[in-house]
Amino acid sequence: MPKVFVSRRVIGLEPYAERLTLDIWEGALPPSPRELRERTRGCDGLVSLLTDRLDADFFDSVPGLKVVSQYAVGVNNIDLAAAKARGIPVGHTPGVLTDATADMAFTLMLAAARNVVPGADYVKAGKWKTWEPALLLGQSVYGATLGIIGYGRIGKAVAERSRGFKMRVLAVSPTLSAEQAAAEDVTATSLDDLLRESDFVSIHTPLTPDTYHLIGARELALMKPTATLVNTARGEVIDPAALYEALRAGRPGFAALDVTEPEPLPPDHPLLSLPNCLVVPHLGSATMQARLAMTRSAMANLEAGLRGEPMPHCANP
Ligand code: DGY
Repeated sequence: MPKVFVSRRVIGLEPYAERLTLDIWEGALPPSPRELRERTRGCDGLVSLLTDRLDADFFDSVPGLKVVSQYAVGVNNIDLAAAKARGIPVGHTPGVLTDATADMAFTLMLAAARNVVPGADYVKAGKWKTWEPALLLGQSVYGATLGIIGYGRIGKAVAERSRGFKMRVLAVSPTLSAEQAAAEDVTATSLDDLLRESDFVSIHTPLTPDTYHLIGARELALMKPTATLVNTARGEVIDPAALYEALRAGRPGFAALDVTEPEPLPPDHPLLSLPNCLVVPHLGSATMQARLAMTRSAMANLEAGLRGEPMPHCANP
């Protein structure tokens, strides 16, 4: 049976243990680079997570490895070219987590706009003494302008959700054609105009050299003081030092982040000291349904690769 190292315990692996020898990392934290190398050495396949760094040195240290299957859609932790140069296909899991991630973007937007976390804290602190007309006044989401940076699967799914809220949708994306924009009632615009006009800005671009710190001091200064910036993509798309200064200055008014740089964010990170910054621990695809579908997708890629067949979703074809 092919031998496979799975670098974290994920749900739904039981059926695969009948036809693969699975070595599953059971640690509470991810394996260190050394542990990852040692456990992968001698394996035919690796199921990796976004917390594993797979670079050229890693691939050189595991010469028998035939297949990598990433348990995520994002593959910015993997040197795809280095894998390809060594004949190693890298699978990933697009599609199955689109709705869960779009739901999280919307959740963060609504939670930020309507002071859900401060409201819950207020009640728990025993401060709720009466109905208070001026208490925790937020921003209206219904009818507001939503700016979507990166109009791929997840960006589009966020736009779909916004229709029920009668939002005006602006989008920036290299792949958005004028025809698609018109058909989906989205206005394709420049990044600067999107940032200037949006009440909510939601980031859905992959992390690439082009999108690293795409949102820095200049871009943040374009946003409205009442606007909220939501990130469910990758933390590194936003410059965190610039975001801290911008939030302190109140422009934008709020940031709601599912992803951060660094990740995890240390408890003493300046962003966590701000009342206008909500951070959750990379929960975008964290539903039972999405995670089970990710397991099935990752294992389908893995098994296809082990058979020497094309993967259903290969990131370095
Ligand atoms: C991904 O898939 O890239 C997410 O960040 C984790 O589900």
